[in-house]
Amino acid sequence: MILQISKQLKTYSAMRAALCTGTLVWGGLINAAAQSKANTTPVPQLGKNSIKEVIAAMTLQEKALMVIGGGRTGTGIVLGDGSMIGRTESRLPGAAGGTNAIPRLGIPAMVLPDGPAGLRIDVKRKDDNKLYYATAFPSATTLASTWDTALVKRVGAAFGNEVLAYGADIILAPGVNIHRNPLGGRNFEYYSEDPVVAGNIAAAIINGLQSNGIGASIKHFIANNQEANRAGINELITERSLREIYLKTFEIAIKKSQPWTVMSSYNLVNGTHTSERADLLTTVLRNEWGFKGYVMTDWGGKAKNLIAQMNAGNDVIMPGNADQVKRIISAVEHDSLDVKVLDRNVEHILNIIIKSPSFKHYNYSAAPDLKTHALISHQAGAEGMVLLENHNNALPLRSDQKNIALLGNTSYATIAGGTGSGDVNKAHVISLAGGLANAGFIPEAKQATIYNKYVSDWRNRSRELNITNEQLNTLAAKCDVALLTIGRNSGETKDRDLDSNYHLKPAELSLIDRTAAAFHQQGKKLVIVLNICGPIDTKGWRTKADAILLAWQPGQEAGDAMTDVLTGKVNPSGKLATTFTESYTDVSSARDFPGTPAVNPGQVAYTEGIYVGYRYYDTFNIKPAYEFGYGLSYTTFKISPVKLSATVVKNKLTAQVTVTNTGKVAGKEVVQAYVAAPAKSIAKPAQELKDFAKTRLLQPGESQVITFNIPVASLASFHNDKSAWITDAGQYQLRIGSSSRQITQASFFNIPAKVITERVHSVLHPPQPVTVYKTQ
Ligand code: BGC
Repeated sequence: MILQISKQLKTYSAMRAALCTGTLVWGGLINAAAQSKANTTPVPQLGKNSIKEVIAAMTLQEKALMVIGGGRTGTGIVLGDGSMIGRTESRLPGAAGGTNAIPRLGIPAMVLPDGPAGLRIDVKRKDDNKLYYATAFPSATTLASTWDTALVKRVGAAFGNEVLAYGADIILAPGVNIHRNPLGGRNFEYYSEDPVVAGNIAAAIINGLQSNGIGASIKHFIANNQEANRAGINELITERSLREIYLKTFEIAIKKSQPWTVMSSYNLVNGTHTSERADLLTTVLRNEWGFKGYVMTDWGGKAKNLIAQMNAGNDVIMPGNADQVKRIISAVEHDSLDVKVLDRNVEHILNIIIKSPSFKHYNYSAAPDLKTHALISHQAGAEGMVLLENHNNALPLRSDQKNIALLGNTSYATIAGGTGSGDVNKAHVISLAGGLANAGFIPEAKQATIYNKYVSDWRNRSRELNITNEQLNTLAAKCDVALLTIGRNSGETKDRDLDSNYHLKPAELSLIDRTAAAFHQQGKKLVIVLNICGPIDTKGWRTKADAILLAWQPGQEAGDAMTDVLTGKVNPSGKLATTFTESYTDVSSARDFPGTPAVNPGQVAYTEGIYVGYRYYDTFNIKPAYEFGYGLSYTTFKISPVKLSATVVKNKLTAQVTVTNTGKVAGKEVVQAYVAAPAKSIAKPAQELKDFAKTRLLQPGESQVITFNIPVASLASFHNDKSAWITDAGQYQLRIGSSSRQITQASFFNIPAKVITERVHSVLHPPQPVTVYKTQ
């Protein structure tokens, strides 16, 4: 082996010398190498020979080409003389990047488009007049609100089918970063404030995606929880918070679904870029969790010590350039990069390429079944909606409430999903106005005409149309009910603005006020629909509405899905996977977001530690507006007393409850199992979610038995000083309910002796102590 490498280096050095003297162009290297090998032995081929043999046959330049990826216009590296190596035209315009091809070794290029709400590709192509649309599925936050892993897996399967059908190999999704702060610009692309919900929903979508024989890329590893200075922000986070919150999501998802790839994040954690951290990418990800795929960088991240990235196990730089190819070659030649490290990384990549549709010459149709996928998007959109308020049965709309005063810009320009790389080029978005009309409801025509004209100019969309009191009184006299939509969007590169995005604007507050007054005066109701990317302030206005439906950003079928829930065709069963606090300042990270200085921050300390979301509100007695796990239904459910497998638990607790629909219409319930642990050796949150399940559609009077599995290891807390997960001995309370604050059944169990459930490596230390909240 050593002999082979040195032989190969000699050949390479000779070629490089030729290159320098102008006798060879870079593009000729592969051919020259190919010829020299072809004269002697047959060239090993990927798939026919072992991966080790293929790597042994590679020139150094070919190895470098493997670890430096291609960009949007196709793969390949443009050399100084304008020639190109490793080149494959992008067969999928709009795809974010790919890996380079080495045809002589039978290595094809792979194509990597964006997600995570659907496949992001260009609609138009140069060479034909066809339109290439993809399905816009509900945003990740909406999907998490379904709490339905089986449904999310179906979404993944449909989404992955489009990836395969359009000729791609790996989808750059899902994004699973934690909702640390509601202003995070990309939260809509992420699932939850809780790692158990986020990890399990992520595993479901990855399993669905990968069931098509394509790969997923779980991102952004780790702690890309803000957009402010996303590539330069240094995040100081304790090992405990990393292990219990931020890494936990990835750990659950990766162990349950083995995504083909992981995308490292732009930011620094504890002083070092994540893509340069061997402790993160090799020790934790591979050695502790058993990850088997390859790691790629996020796109064009600046900073970066290329050699440190290679050593860390960040296998591919996306997208790379010719200079990086040269730097890798030179580093090996000058002994600053061990060729064994390069070989290891190349092996990680080839292990995935060999599974890819491109390697298998998959004959793609470029014509997925968009109609069927639209139905899945529609269903998932409706199931992710959360009914926040419903006074005196304001919802569902009755069949005699057909005439609707439909207000708010986003009733007409409904938002399917967020902006940036997570945006999907879909064929249509059904507006709420369209959805209501499809179901035989009649948005008042005069007002609808005015709105449609107003929102057709996109510049108007962020300013609510002004409606006079007189107009509102006329509408109240004429219509049966008012539906008013509040819309919010956000996206990559920018966090949400506290004043104009999190809070309602004066014009919106005034419209709510005046509409409520006009309709209530006539004994008619006001229903507010929230078509939003993340939590907003509700304090100033929520008491004015008779009902509030949180529709999130439910994908391209938005209006139909909203109408299903508003009319009761679908009984709402979504629950919040992220808290709505009473005010922004209640958020535990509010004082440390986005860091210091406030504009273009360089550093942010996660002083809230593990107290993220409900872990903070429940422990420190802060009453949220709408708590984690909350959501109403048009029916009612009863949860029976809990049956435990044992009251003294050694390895695993099993708990059973029976859920009965005690109301008048069919519905689904999300049952949540929280545990309050004894804080003996270390401070702990008041309670933490350990398992959850969603019932099937239960008819009135019907019941379903739900079983929760809670391994003792899942009750452990992480001890920084011992680098170990420890489950304390003592009395625990299992708390089962329909939200984090509606616990209807509880039962105690005991762990007889302290258990060290896992010892891990001592890694990811902050360069200086991070002072965090403590309860004791
Ligand atoms: C984003 C990634 C995305 C990549 C490729 C980056 O800016 O952070 O999420 O996959 O671009 O478009």
